[in-house]
Amino acid sequence: MNSKTVAQLLSQNETLQDVSVKGWVRTFRANRFIALNDGSTINNMQCVVDFENFDEALLKRVTTGAAIHVIGELVESQGKGQSVEIVVKTLEVLGDSDPETYPIQPKKHSFEFLRENAHLRTRTSTFSAVMRLRSSLSFAVHKYFNENGFNYMHTPIITGSDAEGAGEMFKVSNLDAKNPPLNEDGSVNYKEDFFGKETNLTVSGQLEAETYAMSLGKVYTFGPTFRAENSNTTRHLAEFWMIEPEVAFMDLDGNMDLAEDFMKSVLGYVLENNKEDLEFLDNRLLQEEKTKPQAERSTMSLIEKIKFVVDNNFKRVSYTEAIDILRNSKPNKKKKFNYIIEEWGADLQSEHERFLVEKHFKCPVILFDYPANIKAFYMRLNEPDHEGRETVRAMDILFPGIGEMVGGSQREERLDVLKEKMKALDIDEKELWWYLDLRKYGTAVHSGFGLGFERLVMFATGMGNIRDVIPYPRTPQNAEF
Ligand code: 4AD
Ligand code: MG
Repeated sequence: MNSKTVAQLLSQNETLQDVSVKGWVRTFRANRFIALNDGSTINNMQCVVDFENFDEALLKRVTTGAAIHVIGELVESQGKGQSVEIVVKTLEVLGDSDPETYPIQPKKHSFEFLRENAHLRTRTSTFSAVMRLRSSLSFAVHKYFNENGFNYMHTPIITGSDAEGAGEMFKVSNLDAKNPPLNEDGSVNYKEDFFGKETNLTVSGQLEAETYAMSLGKVYTFGPTFRAENSNTTRHLAEFWMIEPEVAFMDLDGNMDLAEDFMKSVLGYVLENNKEDLEFLDNRLLQEEKTKPQAERSTMSLIEKIKFVVDNNFKRVSYTEAIDILRNSKPNKKKKFNYIIEEWGADLQSEHERFLVEKHFKCPVILFDYPANIKAFYMRLNEPDHEGRETVRAMDILFPGIGEMVGGSQREERLDVLKEKMKALDIDEKELWWYLDLRKYGTAVHSGFGLGFERLVMFATGMGNIRDVIPYPRTPQNAEF
């Protein structure tokens, strides 16, 4: 007999003889009602046992966390809370679970505790819902690009180039750390290392994606990226997944259109396909909101927030306009910001980004045309503005509750301008000879962006800590599991 999943059985509305299902016991109430979950849905299957028909020793083994196999009759439920239930005929304990030590008790656990038990936390409703949503979003990402003519490209994880020009990478080496080969000046001789040069884990697949955009036209990457920045925040991971589309012949306006359409599409997908998980998380958040003071409570539920993003245009605002807004804002004038905005050219901190999206515009915002000197070398330089200030065709997409979700730009396609920029920043042309080749042979306008997948999952699930939307978070001082 083929076993069915709980999800399959719950969608049945007829009586069925001899259904078979396997899963883990959530609770066993009154020696009669087993709440069985197999991960296929947020809902449990109620399995009703008549204790007189079963061995007492067997029933004792039906404890929270145990794996069991049930065969019985699927009938319309007598009780409230479910449409169908199984009247158990055969019960087999596949794997016992010691109720004394099993960490996931049928009660509310803190997220901190569950993080320490991340190998079992998907046995809870919240984490199973989050991870099903993560999986679904990930499918929606591939679906969107596939339906829109993009090629999926696997960019290297080990790289010899530092795409963002930031000194925050993890080294990859198989040299003996205690006794590495040295140059005459005492520095490590990486010529003797595995790759014959210094290599790192990638911070972004962008530069390689650009090479494929300039031949395949539309490409995207979706893979792990690594940053060794020591930022212990609720929005940073040392290992996270990034989605990076890159498109030839597309300018910054096209890039903004693509990013907005893409995000609306994947969020729309989960609204359609993950209703029950979203409703569960919506309700969880509602309960959490109730514990906050009235003034701090969100006016929209989780599902309303997602619908709002899907149904409304993102606000597009230039950096220069944003600075004016921030300079004249209350928290700036009253010196409530930790970093007071005084001059054009200031880098925006997350407190400023959050003010713009949460207080001022109250919707996702695309900020564009940033000062050239606070952005990466590869971004396309604009003509100086009327005050002679230099900006680049960069864009960041800011989301309520999250802050920066997307960073992208039109790329500098002019060889001479790019070379000059690299020179000014002391970036070795020899390291990026292949990147410069793209500007020598058939160069063209092109653009792309990077979206932090976990930040998207945070938004879609309402989870407040990025550690709770990735199976096994890697953060400073933590690489358990
Ligand atoms: O803004 P970033 O650094 O942009 C790039 O890496 C570009 N090369 C992307 C491109 O144009 N192809 O990173 C992109 C996004 C951020 O907006 C943020 O959502 C996410 O990646 N991100 C992180 N997410 C989790 N933990 C971190 N430490 C992150 N750093 C960036
Ligand atoms: Mg960024």
